[in-house]
Amino acid sequence: TYFTMTEEEMIERVRAVKKKLGDRLYIPGHHYQKDEVIQFADTSGDSLQLAQQSANNRDAEFIVFCGVHFMAETADMLTESHQKVILPDMRAGCSMADMADIHQTEKAWDRLQSLFGDTVLPLTYVNSTAAIKAFCGKNGGATVTSSNAERMLEWAFAQKERILFLPDQHLGRNTAYTLGVPLEQMAVWDPIANKLEYDGDLDAVKVILWKGHCSVHEKFTVDNIRSLRVNDPEMKVIVHPECSHEVVQQSDMAGSTHYIIQTIQNAEPNSAWAIGTEMNLVNRLKKNHPDKRIISLNSNMCPCLTMNRIDLPHLTYALEKIAQGDPQNIITVDSETTEYAVKALERMLARA
Ligand code: 13P
Ligand code: SF4
Repeated sequence: TYFTMTEEEMIERVRAVKKKLGDRLYIPGHHYQKDEVIQFADTSGDSLQLAQQSANNRDAEFIVFCGVHFMAETADMLTESHQKVILPDMRAGCSMADMADIHQTEKAWDRLQSLFGDTVLPLTYVNSTAAIKAFCGKNGGATVTSSNAERMLEWAFAQKERILFLPDQHLGRNTAYTLGVPLEQMAVWDPIANKLEYDGDLDAVKVILWKGHCSVHEKFTVDNIRSLRVNDPEMKVIVHPECSHEVVQQSDMAGSTHYIIQTIQNAEPNSAWAIGTEMNLVNRLKKNHPDKRIISLNSNMCPCLTMNRIDLPHLTYALEKIAQGDPQNIITVDSETTEYAVKALERMLARA
């Protein structure tokens, strides 16, 4: 029914629910969300900012999270028990988070313990399930986001000799490389084959990268950069660190969505930028900065299909169900998982 409504009608209904619920309702939205959704967000941010804001919000009864499932789980774990976190469409997952399953991780951990003894600290990108965060929390580790990955890897290296980095090999590799770890000291854990990919002497291994990736950011390639350098040499290339190591190396700058936004905001008028990140954010930057020349690094544009599942019809539905006293799509993480996952999150938030 919501899909047959006109946009104007949905907008009116969303406004009506927001007015009716007032401070009982809070709508955070990730930078990758569609404009039709972001226009109603009480706050927008990158993964770190949204986690911080969830941890600080003690009042709203209903948090309608416009982002993907792992973000809503994190919000649930960081808020109080009387607060309900709602994901407008339950199908809004993250393929990267799904690449690290807790059973695979436990198997990998056993193997890594037998190879390296008690020298490994697990870190997980927040783009992971609550169970993986709990696994890290239980084993002395922490979560990281693309905004604080360097700081968290430094922290981890102060605790243990080696890091297991889940689930995004690219963020792990790019960050460790920036901190001076050579590629030859990074091994890859293949969770499907259940084995370590590494040719050299195991004693040299400093980082074990889980073999996961983001299907959106892998679409930005070295060829994209090469052809841009030839056809439009004025363009500066800025990418998200979920892009491959080669792409990050050949770019002019790399950083989180927040970093990308700040860089474009502070750039000279008339400057030209090719951006390697999700399409909705690139389009928004283009619209907000008409004085700058902005394109997507991959001319096909790159949408995150699961982020895009949150749209105006789903938002309207979720809000109206709350207003009717029948909230749907409530995200709850069990208390044992929450206890350990919060340890991992708090170790990050204390240093963010
Ligand atoms: P950040 O918001 O940390 O930049 O992460 C991007 C992302 O892929 C979220 O899913
Ligand atoms: Fe997951 Fe990539 Fe989409 Fe972010 S952009 S939600 S990492 S699939």
